[in-house]
Amino acid sequence: MTIKSKIRTIPDYPKKGIMFRDITTLIKDPVGFRLVIDNFTQRYIKGDVNFDVIVGIESRGFIIGGALSYTLGKGFVPVRKKGKLPAEKISHEYELEYGTDIIEMHKDAFTKDTKVLLVDDLLATGGTALAAAALVEKLGGVVSEMAFIVNLPDVGGEKRLKEKGYKIFALTKFE
Ligand code: PRP
Ligand code: ADE
Repeated sequence: MTIKSKIRTIPDYPKKGIMFRDITTLIKDPVGFRLVIDNFTQRYIKGDVNFDVIVGIESRGFIIGGALSYTLGKGFVPVRKKGKLPAEKISHEYELEYGTDIIEMHKDAFTKDTKVLLVDDLLATGGTALAAAALVEKLGGVVSEMAFIVNLPDVGGEKRLKEKGYKIFALTKFE
């Protein structure tokens, strides 16, 4: 069984022209979900990528980031969609493959110079990851690496993020 083979593709969702890569079919399979978390854990348990905390992006990034925080023994910081966080926060607006959104993080999520592993399920335009990185950097944090289950290189996010100097890791890609 491969991770890629368990991801379902829905054409024209949420709008015409988008090939939606749906990870629900992967993570509902206990073997599939474990494979995802084991693969990430093997990469990050070695300590080659230096980070103090995992930052996960709502909502699909919470599923991966939460489990990985547990296996790696790191804390988890949520990046949330606008209006969900109760304490003092910072915000960033960004463009999606299919719209715009605002994400937020608590001001006291971590201290200056904290090293962060940014986690999400999928990289498309890179807009979400860049916005999350901007929040991390506004607090004086440093993004050590960005980890995804799926990379869609044709949409351009990988190139865009690498040009800005970010390190990208993905378990599979669709071209
Ligand atoms: C999806 C996905 C990533 C983002 C990737 O989230 O989970 O966060 O889009 O796209 P990008 O690279 O073009 O920014 P979405 O905003 O659909 O929210 P969800 O996780 O709550 O479904
Ligand atoms: N988020 C942004 N683009 C996406 C896509 N093509 N499939 C699933 N999630 C996405």
